[in-house]
Amino acid sequence: MIRLGVNVDHVATIRQARGGREPDPVTAAHEAELGGADQITVHLREDRRHIQDRDLRLLRQTVQTPLNLELAVSADVIAIALDVRPDQVTLVPERREEVTTEGGLDVVGGLAAVRAATARFAAAGVAVSLFIDPEPAQVEAARESGATHVELHTGQFALARGAGDVAHEVERLRRAGARAHELGLHLALGHGLDYRNVVLVRDLPHVAEMNIGHSIVSRAVYVGLREAVREMKRLLV
Ligand code: PXP
Repeated sequence: MIRLGVNVDHVATIRQARGGREPDPVTAAHEAELGGADQITVHLREDRRHIQDRDLRLLRQTVQTPLNLELAVSADVIAIALDVRPDQVTLVPERREEVTTEGGLDVVGGLAAVRAATARFAAAGVAVSLFIDPEPAQVEAARESGATHVELHTGQFALARGAGDVAHEVERLRRAGARAHELGLHLALGHGLDYRNVVLVRDLPHVAEMNIGHSIVSRAVYVGLREAVREMKRLLV
C-alpha cells in the first residue's frame, strides 16, 4: 500500500490571509492523521508565506506519524531543520516569485551543495529525500549525493492534457522510478496530484509514498479534512 503524506501548508495559507490564529495547521495535521494520513508534510519557505517556525516546532511535538519537512538548500532553514529534527527532510528548489514549487531540484547542477546538506542531515539521523524532475540523470545524481529517497515531481504529469501527453508523462515517471529502484532509492511522487489523476500513477512500480496537499485541503472545504484524507487513502489501496 502506498503511504500518504498530507501536506498541510495550504491550511496555513488560509490563516496567513488574515494573520490570525485560524485555521491552525497543527490541528489540521491531527485531523489528517485521524483520517489515515501516514505522514505529515510541511514546507518551511524562506519567505514564511504559510508555515511558520512555531508551526514546525509544535508539529514536531504533536504529530504521531513521521514528519517530513520540505526546505531549500539554504543555510538558515537547514539550521532550523537540524534543530527541530523532523523524521525526514525533502530538499526542494525555491524561488520567491513562484506560486508553488515549479520544478525539481537541479541535483546534477548543484551536486556539491546537495551532498554537503545531505551529509549534515544523515549525521543527525534525518532521512533525506530530493524532490527532482523525473529524469534519469537527476535520479543518478541523487544517488551520488548520498540521499536515500527521491520524490519525483508530478507537476508536468498533472498539467498534461490529452491521452498522448498524459501517457508520455506517465512513461517519464515510470522510467525515472525504475532507475531510482535500481539504485536502491526509496520512491515517492508529489505535486499536483488529485482525486482524478492519482489513479493514473498509483500503479506505477516501486512507488512507496505520495505527498498531496492542495487537492485534499480543497476538498476539505466541503467534506472536512478527515473525510478528504480518507477518500484519498481509499484511492491508494
Ligand atoms: N511534494 C513537494 C516536494 C511539494 O513541494 C509540494 C507542494 O508544496 C507537494 C508535494 C504537494 O503538492 P500539492 O499541494 O500540489 O499536492
